[in-house]
Amino acid sequence: MDQTINRGLDGVYIDTSAISFIDGGKGQLVYRGYDITELADKASYEEVVYLLWNGHLPNAEQLAEFRAEIAPHYAVPGAVYDLYRNLPHGHSPMHAIRTAASMLGAYDDDPDGVDLPNVRRIGLKLLAEFQTITAAYERIRRGLQPVAPRPDLSLAGNFLYTLTGEVPSEAATRVMDVALVLHAEHGSNASTFVARATASTLTDVYSAITAAIGALKGPLHGGANTAVMQALEEIGDVAGVEPYVLGVLAKPGGRVMGFGHRVYKVLDPRAQVLKEVSRKLALESGDSKWFDMSLEMERVMDREMAKKGKEVKPNVDFFSASVYRMLGFPSDMYTPIFAVARISGWMAHLFEQYADNRLMRPRLAYSGTMGLEFVPVERR
Ligand code: CMC
Repeated sequence: MDQTINRGLDGVYIDTSAISFIDGGKGQLVYRGYDITELADKASYEEVVYLLWNGHLPNAEQLAEFRAEIAPHYAVPGAVYDLYRNLPHGHSPMHAIRTAASMLGAYDDDPDGVDLPNVRRIGLKLLAEFQTITAAYERIRRGLQPVAPRPDLSLAGNFLYTLTGEVPSEAATRVMDVALVLHAEHGSNASTFVARATASTLTDVYSAITAAIGALKGPLHGGANTAVMQALEEIGDVAGVEPYVLGVLAKPGGRVMGFGHRVYKVLDPRAQVLKEVSRKLALESGDSKWFDMSLEMERVMDREMAKKGKEVKPNVDFFSASVYRMLGFPSDMYTPIFAVARISGWMAHLFEQYADNRLMRPRLAYSGTMGLEFVPVERR
């Protein structure tokens, strides 16, 4: 029996997918045929979600219809707010949001149907509800009342509005839109794989999404953006960056968060876009501290990795940290914001998975002992 082992499923193709393509050698990411850099520059998040879900960009009428389909779904059951009020708030907000996402299933009239119309209905609901549950958690843990969503605002605008209670500027909405577009989809990353593997048992969408949120939370995946900002906060200033990086790299297995990628061996194209967004925000605000520290970290990592002959470049989580900081988000909200964006990609993959399902059931090569004789407990 062939027992070729690809630890971490490195290089393993589990299926075909028409949703996105990554060229890790060129640093290219394509959603449904469109280069991510162009989409980040020119498309709204709603257009990108429509693209991911339908395979083509919407015309003006289709886009208006799509926005109108999303709008009624922002409201969430009041029980979610009660849950938040009763939860301890000392841990990562991902615990609260993962729990709330699971809870939404219990309030759905048809949570279990995995026929495509029902999965699409749930996808639309989750796209809007997810924003509401994320923003509401932040307000409730700060002792504030949740803000009723404004269905007339875009997804990006509405998210900022429900978080702050103020209609955001066009500039802030656009930055948020770009961040959502860049984080929407990324092939068979760990959380999307988990979503697809969970759905492959033909369990429901809520279970698959809840599992995906749990996977995203890890510091090797979406949790890295929070870890980047926590590191920058700990370092404190540009002068502290170099000793910090050298200290991390000196430890066996030491990882500088926000660097490296399983697929990209050159700069992650999303990091390139976010780097420019971060630079622009720093210039406009007159406070370049976080951007300057990020640049310094990139410089030191480049030098140190070159010495070891390794290609370890900034990934999407690296510059998103300073961008989110300059938008005013607390660092532990960065990963929940990643989830707000990635819900669209997860759903696109669930449409594909349910439409042509095969149970995912890989093997493990047994490395334990064999042939032991059972000894009753009283004789052990
Ligand atoms: N800091 C220092 N060295 C690194 C880093 C890093 N962040 N990333 C990779 N390396 C080195 C690593 O030490 C290894 O060296 P060696 O071959 O001598 O052991 C080499 O590069 C290859 O690393 P690997 O861990 O075998 O590669 P991988 O494909 O398993 O790891 C990764 C990918 C993302 C887990 C890893 O780069 C990492 O831990 N990065 C930090 C966490 C992070 O930023 N995660 C976000 C990923 S992108 C956004 C997302 O998907 O959510």
